[in-house]
Amino acid sequence: MPASLGERLEELRREVERELAAADSPEDVEEIRVRTLGKKGALTREAKAIGALPAEERPGAGEVVNAVKNAIEASIETRRAALSDVALRARLAEEAVDATLPGRRRGQGANHPLSIVTSQLLETFRRMGFSVATGPEIESTWHNFEALNIPAGHPAREEMDTLYVDADHVLRTHTSPVQIRVMESQRPPVSIVCPGRVFRADDPDASHSPYFHQIEGLLVDEGISMAHLKWTLTEFVHQYFGPEVKVRLRPSYFPFTEPSAELDIACQVCGGGGCPSCKHSGWMELLGCGMVHPAVLEAVGYDSERWTGFAWGMGVERVAINKYGIPDIRMFFENDVRFLHRFRGR
Ligand code: DAH
Repeated sequence: MPASLGERLEELRREVERELAAADSPEDVEEIRVRTLGKKGALTREAKAIGALPAEERPGAGEVVNAVKNAIEASIETRRAALSDVALRARLAEEAVDATLPGRRRGQGANHPLSIVTSQLLETFRRMGFSVATGPEIESTWHNFEALNIPAGHPAREEMDTLYVDADHVLRTHTSPVQIRVMESQRPPVSIVCPGRVFRADDPDASHSPYFHQIEGLLVDEGISMAHLKWTLTEFVHQYFGPEVKVRLRPSYFPFTEPSAELDIACQVCGGGGCPSCKHSGWMELLGCGMVHPAVLEAVGYDSERWTGFAWGMGVERVAINKYGIPDIRMFFENDVRFLHRFRGR
């Protein structure tokens, strides 16, 4: 016996319920709806078949079909709502922002101690009226030596273990050639300071490096004497290291100055009492200086009868070592971030 309309529809309804239970997205539910209630859907087919029934059976069949259709529609709607709710929750969970999480820290950089000390030194000299000049690291032997009164064969030239680029060019062994370049390019008066890197063929150890940094100074004007040199450099020491710090000038020799001197300050580690850092002398050598040699002025075309001047050169590493108590010059160039981080915020 063929199944009755009621049985077939009941079977269809159960089938749809099973499929809905297995559906796991709103798209699955839509697909079931089209397959059941769409134009060519299973239930739609049953509804169309009613027209072929004898007239007296139609109202009953229509009622049955409608009841099942309503039931199926309700089930589909329920399942669709449940699944969109799940999908929404999943999306919300995925896109959730936890506003209570701590922010990501940005790596904080630090200035290199040599940059810190260089800019402090330059600032001190700038306040005293000096301008900042620079020159090339690859320098002609004329600027690096001859113009500074160090002719070929001069013993001072042998002393500097020099890195030659070719016969006429060297990695500059000091910042003094910038004196020459500045004087070549302008008429007196001149008052400049010049920071820069210098090179010597030295084997590295705790106190030597094949490259290091200097700050050069030069002042040329009418009537400049050793008294101006002494006042200017003493004033610089008092401004940079402190107003009480003792200063002394010792006679020395440089080919490009006459007379020449070394300027010492009271040892910054022990205050002048004597300690291993100053080899128990109480003094620390800070810079070389002197009155610009007439031959240097003449080399750049200045009239040495009219113009006189003084100059000095100091090692930046030496200042930083003393200021921060750094035990080994190589630490400046290893770029170990633990060392560099000590200078954060300075
Ligand atoms: N150029 C010298 C050096 O490298 C330092 C120096 C000494 C510079 C005396 C000067 C100076 O300007 O007057 O050792």
